[in-house]
Parts: sequence; structure tokens; C-alpha cells
Amino acid sequence: MADSPNCDLKSLSPLQLFERVTEQGEKVRALKAGKAPKDEIDTAVRMLLSLKQSYKTTTGQDYQAGLPPKDLVSINNGTTKEEDEDFVDPWTVQTSNAKGVDYDKLIVRFGSSKIDTDLINRIERATGQKPHRFLRRGIFFSHRDMDQILDAYENKKSFYLYTGRGPSSQALHVGHLIPFIFTKWLQEVFDVPLVIQLTDDEKYLWKDLTTEKAYEYARENAKDIIACGFDVNKTFMFSDLDYLGTSTGFYKNIVKVQKHVTFNQVKGIFGFTDSDCIGKISFPAIQAAPSFSSSFPQIFNGKENIQCLIPCAIDQARKSYYLDPYFRMTRDVAPRIGQPKPALLHSVFFPALQGAQTKMSASDPNSSIFLTDTPKQIKTKINKHAFSGGRDTIEEHRKYGGNCDVDVSFMYLTFFLEDDDRLEQLKQAYTSGELLTGELKKVLIETLQPLIAAHQERRKQVTDEMVTQFMTPRKLAFEF
Ligand code: TRP
Repeated sequence: MADSPNCDLKSLSPLQLFERVTEQGEKVRALKAGKAPKDEIDTAVRMLLSLKQSYKTTTGQDYQAGLPPKDLVSINNGTTKEEDEDFVDPWTVQTSNAKGVDYDKLIVRFGSSKIDTDLINRIERATGQKPHRFLRRGIFFSHRDMDQILDAYENKKSFYLYTGRGPSSQALHVGHLIPFIFTKWLQEVFDVPLVIQLTDDEKYLWKDLTTEKAYEYARENAKDIIACGFDVNKTFMFSDLDYLGTSTGFYKNIVKVQKHVTFNQVKGIFGFTDSDCIGKISFPAIQAAPSFSSSFPQIFNGKENIQCLIPCAIDQARKSYYLDPYFRMTRDVAPRIGQPKPALLHSVFFPALQGAQTKMSASDPNSSIFLTDTPKQIKTKINKHAFSGGRDTIEEHRKYGGNCDVDVSFMYLTFFLEDDDRLEQLKQAYTSGELLTGELKKVLIETLQPLIAAHQERRKQVTDEMVTQFMTPRKLAFEF
């Protein structure tokens, strides 16, 4: 595993190598400061030099403290071909390929594991349920330690789910629902507790928002989350600004994480600089802590060792940074504070209407379908803005066919159309040229309109009292 201390340096990503060099530099400094024996210092210095050498070989750059690697080296053939490469660091995701990011490469770079047919079959056997379309279609494509969760589950040991949302605005688009739709399915088929963190503190720190506004957005976003159908008896949702002050369990875990992560490490992992406020620098500990069951004594009866499974989007497309580094850090700290490492499930990026290469933005209403859109807006947006893999003229389209790999309407259908056979028929017909772009768009419009309308109907039913109920610390319908 890439996050175990003794793995082969060649298998590390540039960012991971960067972290290693930073850590080793710290170690050398500490040894020197503590006047350690000379041979011990020499060994640590030799290790540092060899790490720096590996870093240079892998990235083609000299290591510079505080400056994480920017360009990623091709792992295909060992040459650097920046413009052909997907670019992923904690804050940015770009791809030059219209099909989107190459996920197999991403798995190698992350050191995570592919969700393969074996694992999907195992989930089916363990739960006795047909795997969710997000699993059948590779939308949740990567994991860390999901096999351990299943081992435990098959031995009648429970686990819990943890996911979250940064409430930066009221405008949620359909892509934001993906982790929640999937989490709801997981909660149902495994019948386990779920905690949902609303990081209003994070949004206060990062955006131009007051604490009051951030908290208000948290409660508003909670309504959309509740509208996904979560069971109030099995789900605890919390605002950081709120819960942190009332829970000693949560805060204890935060300081434990804080004690085990250095400034150098967070600089390396998240790219913080000396002029970032200290709130940002310590925030990763706050997002890490819900991965430990003792943060929720009311749910787990004070038990410390209940394993956690975190479904998350690798990228939160709107903001374009990925969450995995937070949980890589968490997994690194966990054994050092005597807690199990959280397991993870990663989903693919949700493409903007304009195509897989562009980024979605909450401030651009045309970049996606929003949960507040009317049937008419949905229709207009798709017809006007959904990037088409079809040909320029009907004649050409009939002759050469369309390209589903780059067609955003088809991509959205893979997320939202439940019927596998229908999806396959559409793919065949579009690829052969029998189905035109306008006809494919019509199918998407007719799929999304009722789905969004139903969401709006459910959201209308969610009252402030219900939000308060979800957000009240309490025991859930599980014995621990
Ligand atoms: N910081 C995340 C965001 O901005 C929200 C979040 C908190 C989260 N904890 C999480 C997301 C756990 C996934 C899993 O959206």
C-alpha cells in the first residue's frame, strides 16, 4: 500500500515522494536539534539524500521545501508529456482529453485499488442486493481497504459511513448528489449508521462568508441532503461550528490528529504557504476526526474501534480539488493514535455540461443542471449547452455515427438512467448513427425532469424541525 512506510519508492507518486522528503528533512532537523549520536544523524541524512534523488528522477525537478510538485510525470512510458496528461493536485483537476481523466492511471498515481468485478460481486454476495448502477458502471471506481470492511461485515462486525459537504452556497447541482445518492444506497443495503459533516467552518475560512452565513448554508444544504431520503433514525448530520463546541469526543480526536501532523506535512500535502491563516492549516484535522468512532460517543456508546467507510468524490468538481489527501493523511495518523484507518470509496468527476475538459462552476448556471431548475430550464440547458459527440450534419452523423465517449448527454445518462438495457441500446443506436443528438438529448431531458421534480417535491417536505432533528446529537437505531 502506498501509505505504508516501507513501500518501494518507485511506486510513489510525486506528491507522496514530496511528502517523504519533507518528513525526512524534519527528522534530520529534529535529530540535529536533539544532539542525536553522529551515526544516527548520518544515516538519516543519507536517507534524505536518496529520497531527494528519487524525487528528482521521478519529477525531473529538484526538491524545494514548501513547493509541492506541479507537473506530473507520465507513468505510461516514462516521458514527460504535460499537455497529454491529467493534472491532479490537491486543488486543481484538469484534463486535455475530451473523454475525461484516465482513471486507471489515477489509481496507480494514488496508490489506491480498482473496484473490480470481484469486489462488486463480493458486495452483491454480502448484501444480497443488486449492485448500484454507480458500481455497475464504474462511477465509483477506486477504493482503499473496502475488502477489510467486507471481511468485518461478513464476520458480523459493523462499521459506519462518513461523508460530508462544504456548504459554500445554496446552489447545488445534480453532480453534488452523486456521493449522497450512493451513500444512501450503502446505508440501506448494509444497514449501518451514517454521519454527515457540514464544514461551515471550512467555508468561513476559505470564502468570503460570515460564520452566520456559512451556518445558514449548512442548514439549507442539509435540506437537499435530507431530500435524498436518509433515515433520521440512522443518520447524524452536523455543522462543525455547532457540534465542535458540544462534543468532547470530537474535539479530543481533533487535537490528537493535530499533534501527529506537522506544518511541513500539511504544506506538502495541501500546498499551504506561510501566509495562509492558521485556521486553514489546522482544518485538515477537523475533516479527519469524524473518521474515528469516538468522535460520536452518543452513537457508538463511547466505543473507539468501529471502522469507518468514507464515500467521496475524488474531485468536488465545482471547487476542483480532491478529497483523498485529507483521508490519506487521516490513514497515516490513525495507527499512531490507536484507531483503525478509515476505508474509502472514490467516485469519478462529474462533467460540466460543456464537456469533460471544462470545470463546473456554481456561479455559472449553464455549467450544470441545478436542483432548483424548472423543467423548461432543464430542457433549454441540455439542448443549448450539452456538449455533443454527434456529427456536424445529419448526413455525416448517419454515415459515421456519434461518439458516446465525449458526449455529455450520454455521460449524464450513465449517471442517472437506471435501466442497463436501455442505456446499451442508446449507446448502440447513437454510435451507429441511427439515433441523432437531438433524440439523445430528449432522452436525457425526459430522465432528468422527473428526477429533479421529485427531488424538489421531497425538499419542500423538509422542515426546519426535521433539520434540527437530524442535527441533534443522539443515539441512533443501533446498539454498540
Ligand atoms: N470538505 C468537503 C467539501 O468541501 C466536505 C466534507 C467533509 C467531506 N467531510 C467529508 C466530503 C467527508 C466527503 C467525505 O465538500
